Amino acid sequence: MKVTIVGAGNVGATCADVISYRGIASEVVLLDIKEGFAEGKALDIMQCATNTGFNTRVSGVTNDYSKTADSSVVVITSGIPRKPGMTREELIGINAGIVKTVVENVLVHSPNAIIVVVSNPMDTMTYLALKSTGLPKNRIIGMGGALDSSRFRTYLSMALGKPANDISAMVIGGHGDTTMIPLTRLASYNGIPVSQFLSEEALEKVAADTMVGGATLTGLLGTSAWYAPGASVAYLVDSILNDQKKMIACSVFVEGEYEQNDICIGVPCIIGKNGVEEIIEIELNDKEKAVFAKSAVAVRAMNDALKSILA
Ligand code: LAC
Repeated sequence: MKVTIVGAGNVGATCADVISYRGIASEVVLLDIKEGFAEGKALDIMQCATNTGFNTRVSGVTNDYSKTADSSVVVITSGIPRKPGMTREELIGINAGIVKTVVENVLVHSPNAIIVVVSNPMDTMTYLALKSTGLPKNRIIGMGGALDSSRFRTYLSMALGKPANDISAMVIGGHGDTTMIPLTRLASYNGIPVSQFLSEEALEKVAADTMVGGATLTGLLGTSAWYAPGASVAYLVDSILNDQKKMIACSVFVEGEYEQNDICIGVPCIIGKNGVEEIIEIELNDKEKAVFAKSAVAVRAMNDALKSILA
């Protein structure tokens, strides 16, 4: 029940905070390259324990991967976040080298870990982690769909004036402002299609707001968001560590599913102790199929930028 989080920035530290607060793991190790930074974040989180009542041990290390040994799950948040006006895709050059090195280091000490990729561009970094390590596809999971789906449910709840936890909805496709696919047709309020309550126009606005959900926050905050990303990762880690077998939209390697091959892209997955245990194939209508195919083209094009790194 040990989780390592590489990168103790906003997303990594929030993830550690939620994991400990909710008692998801017995041990969390935060690792960062900045001297003392992960140690400081870990100590700050540990000092919440008596107030919020958790017993998870949270520790921080500066670049010492030996302390991460025997982790069941490793979350990779390393790299730079986007600034206002930037796309996630613009980060590829810097983040690819970082993610590749981090995954290699992690596997030396936790050869059986399931890897959760958060760094952007997330679908491409997930593909990179898979291709550069040769790990089986069930052990590499990109978290984007979990976050995008939680944003979708939030915007639906705001439009409906109903609690988000009464709403079921998913975002599939790429984790990009133009590649994600909020499945409005299948969204429901306690099993009732949301189209019974919201006009087509209102639903289109919810979908559009969802797609730029991250960019909106980047504009407001001056850097990439962290509360919902950190909580989404913790939700995913919970399903793995505690073998909950939740259905979560994740970026995973597809081999024929959704008529795609050789990319990592967001699809509904059953997530349990073995990582990706099943990919659920939704019957998409023709319009949704076309949008998915277009999203896959964009994700695949982004992967081409990795050729020199993977060579
Ligand atoms: C976001 C980043 C984490 O969507 O990709 O906020």
